[in-house]
Amino acid sequence: MRLQLMTWPAVESYLRSRRDIIVPIGSTEQHGPTGLIGTDALTAEAVAWRLGERVGAIVGPTLGIGMAHHHLAFTGTVALRPSTLMALIQDVVASLRLHGFEHILFINGHGGNVATANTAFQEINARASFGEGAPARCQLVNWWDGQRVATLCKELYGVADGSHATASEVSVTWALHPELERKGDLSPEIAPKGHSWTDAKDYRAAYADGRIGSNPNLSSAEHGLRLLEAATADMAERHAAFVGLKG
Ligand code: NI
Repeated sequence: MRLQLMTWPAVESYLRSRRDIIVPIGSTEQHGPTGLIGTDALTAEAVAWRLGERVGAIVGPTLGIGMAHHHLAFTGTVALRPSTLMALIQDVVASLRLHGFEHILFINGHGGNVATANTAFQEINARASFGEGAPARCQLVNWWDGQRVATLCKELYGVADGSHATASEVSVTWALHPELERKGDLSPEIAPKGHSWTDAKDYRAAYADGRIGSNPNLSSAEHGLRLLEAATADMAERHAAFVGLKG
């Protein structure tokens, strides 16, 4: 169930029987010469929507812009600074808490969001400790972090999955938009890795075409369908563990 396709009475009725919600969070940033700029938002919402169907949970609106300043030297990237993303997450969580949602599971598509989102959760609960507002039970999980996806990525790509513009995330976007599948003239075939960047200029100097450690020429829509299925099963376990906690 997607929140955006529901009415308010339907949400009220849902809240009479359960109080969990799934929120996709991604980014709008370069993904190398062949990957889509929306990759991290598209993949997160695709997994979140499938998870929502599987566990019968509402899926909130996709937070499609993330903490991605380091990609701003590539045309098309749209980024939030950490303080802005924290404010966004805090307001989203406050809205959901106001209506009675108690377990808020963020399905994440962008590694750069992790530290900021977790800090936002800490900030919410720190404020509650100081007597400023209600606490919230939030968790963020990367869609690729389960065992099934890890095993499949290793089998399909080995080390060439990489860590940005990964072969696996590119495959998932092509499963969603097969008409956009394309190979590129990638040089080197497997992108460099290992440089910890400072700002956007420094990132681009180290990673000339935007990729880190990946070879998305190995990607395919067919892989993407298998990865989506694996991710949905992995995330269903994480969801069960999370909402099983007593609120
Ligand atoms: Ni990505």
